[in-house]
Amino acid sequence: MEKEIKDNTLFFDGCNTVDLAEKYGTPLYVLSETAIVEKCGEIRNSFLKKYERTRAAYAAKAFLNLSICKIIEREGLCIDVVSGGELFTAIKAGFPAEKIELNGNNKSVEELKLAVDYGIGRIIVDGLDELSLLEKICRDNGKKSNILYRITPGVKSDSHDYIVTGKKDSKFGIPLDDDVIFPAIEQAINSDYINFMGFHFHVGSQLHDNESHLKALDIALKLIKDTKEKYNYVTPELNVGGGFGINYTDSDTKKPYAYFLDPIMERIEEFSKEMGIMRPEIVIEPGRSIVGEAGITLYTLGTVKDIKGIRKYASVDGGMTDNIRPALYQAKYDGVIANKAEMLKTEVVTICGKCCESGDVLIKDIKVARPERGDIFAIFSTGAYGYSMASNYNKNPLPAVVLVKEGKSEIIVKRQSFEHMIANEVIPASLL
Ligand SMILES: Cc1ncc(COP(=O)(O)O)c(C=O)c1O
Repeated sequence: MEKEIKDNTLFFDGCNTVDLAEKYGTPLYVLSETAIVEKCGEIRNSFLKKYERTRAAYAAKAFLNLSICKIIEREGLCIDVVSGGELFTAIKAGFPAEKIELNGNNKSVEELKLAVDYGIGRIIVDGLDELSLLEKICRDNGKKSNILYRITPGVKSDSHDYIVTGKKDSKFGIPLDDDVIFPAIEQAINSDYINFMGFHFHVGSQLHDNESHLKALDIALKLIKDTKEKYNYVTPELNVGGGFGINYTDSDTKKPYAYFLDPIMERIEEFSKEMGIMRPEIVIEPGRSIVGEAGITLYTLGTVKDIKGIRKYASVDGGMTDNIRPALYQAKYDGVIANKAEMLKTEVVTICGKCCESGDVLIKDIKVARPERGDIFAIFSTGAYGYSMASNYNKNPLPAVVLVKEGKSEIIVKRQSFEHMIANEVIPASLL
């Protein structure tokens, strides 16, 4: 367990969080290497080692920087990127190009060119128009790309609408109407510049049951069958996406990877036997489940405002700029006053940020010990989609990121300075 309480203080992966706040300043993202390594270990044991011809590609959008690429590579995972910037970061970290997979519903020509130039392992193509662009780039460069088609399975998973991606009304993937999907498959099979590897789906994020994965899987398997029957072509790979949920609060019911993956693998094995084909190589794309609970955010409490009979607000020195999820989709979090971790929780307060938005609330109505200016407030499970979705709204600089492991801490992203924030700004001569 990475979180412990000693002497009334919260420790995270062996580090005293109050000392971390003092040493590195706040707001501060703290990432536990031990927790990430444990998660990767679980993926290796319950998937990669258990089933042959499998890959796990860490969905970098959850939290990406150079050091994380190093950990992910060392732990034997591939990486899934969704933009030129993420691709560049992985390549700069020395991540092997053949272990990189590129997703995205609107890849630019430049992004596709970059992917072809680097010779990355897979491009997950989002439509026929993108395939044509990619074919042209490959032809011009004398290269061939391994692609999968991202399909829209048309299943609705049980999560917030903004993180449900597999339903039919979606900007992601290729709809499965016969006159849309089959011409795309045919073009990929017949292309001189494309190795058509198969299909990809991702049904949504923060899922606690496997129903939508299994529904989408049946749809993908039917497509594999149709492709074989129509074109006598057996797709050698299937990517079943990510979406495995984590615990943010007591109401979450996280499941082990095996809960999702064992029934998936069983169904695919059965299907392959029935079809008399070799079972496709299976790929997963977990993001949140690898880094989510490995991260906490530390803040310093400032103004505490008691609106008599209504609510007590305790303001922190960050907010929606370092964690947009509560404002964006009412995500719930848990936390504690790190320097009063053992004290009786006698008050109900709302932890709000410092941005000029009433919606800049991180945790509504949480029980805490008496909050005072200068206290350190820790929010748990902020490792995924916090730093990666951070912004400079109100010209708040991006916080630093510290990697902790068994009592040691190292900075992996420096705190952004005011100077850095305005570095790209120019005043044209007309304004001087
Ligand atoms: C295509 C794709 N793969 C993987 C993921 C990772 O999902 P999660 O972080 O829930 O595992 C996402 C998240 O949006 C995604 O869009």
